[in-house]
Amino acid sequence: MSARFISFEGIDGAGKSTHIARLAERFSQRGATLVNTREPGGTELAEALRGLFLHSGMDGLTEALLVFAGRRDHLVRVIEPALAAGQTVICDRFTDATFAYQGFGRGMDLTVLGTLEQWVQQGRQPDLTLWFDLPAEMAASRRAAARAADRFEQQDLDFFERVRAGYAARAAAAPQRFARIDAAQSIEQVAAQIDAVMEARGW
Ligand code: TMP
Repeated sequence: MSARFISFEGIDGAGKSTHIARLAERFSQRGATLVNTREPGGTELAEALRGLFLHSGMDGLTEALLVFAGRRDHLVRVIEPALAAGQTVICDRFTDATFAYQGFGRGMDLTVLGTLEQWVQQGRQPDLTLWFDLPAEMAASRRAAARAADRFEQQDLDFFERVRAGYAARAAAAPQRFARIDAAQSIEQVAAQIDAVMEARGW
């Protein structure tokens, strides 16, 4: 099977987890060798950085530098070797999250983020990004029902609407890579949307 790199994106509370598990199952059933990973994280070093990232106070540039440092390790040790071996990589968040959260959410300079993206990724991008889009208010009520909030999840609705706008801007700039999923719909309807995207690509 040919190598595939799929990322899942969206504001916190969009409901990605259920569908990541479901897509992983679908690929496994079809005989794909799968790497199911996440950012921030995915290696021992990057998981250690994740703990700091989610729980220590810092400014937007420090957040971006930490997350790109972890991403570099993740790419070098996990993602690039898996793709070179023809495997399917499913990643819960990738660089679009940095543009959305640090860029649009925190107001970090997008040109600086673009430079870091170039250095760290050397042109590597996901083949497909499933963007779970829904209003910030709906995501907030889903989160409140599900779990205690981390440093990002404590941000207000305006922050999450900016993050959402950040994802919309990234999607508009790379329409072939992005598939927008209407995440306000039911689990079954979201699953059907994802199946349609996969079928359209022959996956
Ligand atoms: P998660 O809860 O989906 O694992 O994501 C952890 C949090 O980190 C989430 O609130 C989004 C945030 N984040 C960023 O701010 N920048 C990034 O580059 C990434 C990957 C995540």
